[in-house]
Amino acid sequence: MVARVIPVDPFDLVIFGGTGDLAKRKILPGLYRRFLAGQMPPEARIIAAARSEMDDAGYRALAGASLAEFVSKSKQDEKAIGEFLERLHYVTIDATGEGGWKALKGLMRKGVVRAFYFSVAPSLFGDLAERLHSHGIADGESRIVVEKPFGRDLASARALNAVLAEHFNEEQIYRIDHYLGKETVQNLMAVRFANVLFEPLWNAQYVDHVQITVAETVGVGGRGAYYDKSGAMRDMIQNHLMQLLCLIAMEPPYHFEPNAVRDEKLKVIRALEPVPAEDIVRGQYRAKPANGGAAEPSYAEDVDNPQSRTESYIALKARVANWRWQGTPFYLRTGKKLRARTSEIAIVFKEAPHSIFGEEESWRANILAIRLQPNEGMNLSVMIKEPGPGGMRLTDVPLDMSFADALGEDGMDIPDAYERLIMDVIRGNQTLFMRGDEVEAAWAWTDPIIEGWESRGDRPKGYDPGSSGPEDALMLLHRDGRRWREIRG
Ligand code: BG6
Repeated sequence: MVARVIPVDPFDLVIFGGTGDLAKRKILPGLYRRFLAGQMPPEARIIAAARSEMDDAGYRALAGASLAEFVSKSKQDEKAIGEFLERLHYVTIDATGEGGWKALKGLMRKGVVRAFYFSVAPSLFGDLAERLHSHGIADGESRIVVEKPFGRDLASARALNAVLAEHFNEEQIYRIDHYLGKETVQNLMAVRFANVLFEPLWNAQYVDHVQITVAETVGVGGRGAYYDKSGAMRDMIQNHLMQLLCLIAMEPPYHFEPNAVRDEKLKVIRALEPVPAEDIVRGQYRAKPANGGAAEPSYAEDVDNPQSRTESYIALKARVANWRWQGTPFYLRTGKKLRARTSEIAIVFKEAPHSIFGEEESWRANILAIRLQPNEGMNLSVMIKEPGPGGMRLTDVPLDMSFADALGEDGMDIPDAYERLIMDVIRGNQTLFMRGDEVEAAWAWTDPIIEGWESRGDRPKGYDPGSSGPEDALMLLHRDGRRWREIRG
């Protein structure tokens, strides 16, 4: 199956922080892949703005090196890369002063979509928004894109929202949560709302519990300064896992339209109950001894803070207090340096009310597992009779649907989250972006949880790199008569 590509309108995309890590790893490679796919019109232009002194040629060389490093070899087409680089321009800019703003204004064209990507520290959002206005560069039609972390608590998120609201209205603000740009995440909505099969079962009567796992094998080395002030709760749960929970738990929106979808997600966040201390397990990875291989530092060494109480792992039991989900817990867990890199949502259905096959052949639950990565797809385990003459013995088999296998011989080319989201900004579609009130509601749920462990002085439990996390996390489910799914790559 060939992906349908509809070119977007001509645009000027300004990337503040254009020489930064995100631009190099994600934004530029993502834009190049869209260019290669034919989605970027010939008139599209990308203007990088940053503090370093550089000219267009210098920036093109830097961008070329990023593409060589972060675009897969199979997509590196020399001619296309050359044409793409021609679209790049560079302006040296002083975000907190006046330098460079006139030059930027001079580069902007009339009659094309104007988008401004704030790939900079949140402390600069206000300065950028203010100068875009005072220099007449942004207008009522312009769009701004902001990255996480969107605040570190409710008060700071409110302050950021207020700063942006001084110059832009909500319809112009695109808050990125890149998990919403992942193919499977959107497919989740398609599966739920375009099939009659699942929706009747999608409630506490039939769903025993939901597990959401985002496991990573990497540590925090290199990002220690940011991460140690954040931790897994702020870095992952408050945004990515919360968004996944919302898509599973929300009511059908009346239309696949930005505010309709976001209204339903907001209701879920507001229905989340406070989480008591006994429903939370935090962990911190230990050092890995050499044992023949290379030794690896502990979390505390990685962040250079021997006293750190920040969690690199967290598991918690969330409850959505509404009619649909009363009594169905949502277990969330995420962590660094775990056994495998895998992100998965598992809907674990209840057992059949009565087994006609006898005690020994007791029914195992049906599970709908939605894999975000790697190998995006869905898998529904169903019970069947074990083949052969051995009588009525039951076994569970997967009805497996890998998106890549299902959609084409070599798999359809699945766009990366960033490239999809940037194209949505140009198209003016906010469905996959977080609204200001959603972010604030998410912090309103998160804040008391963090304040709780801070006031108690809780220390995270140690866990070994390459494990499934701290032992105590197993208990979180065991005591409810359930168990975590295995973390497998
Ligand atoms: C980021 C977090 O938002 O998401 C990182 O700050 C994390 O700590 C990353 O590693 C995970 O994203 P992905 O797409 O690799 O699962």
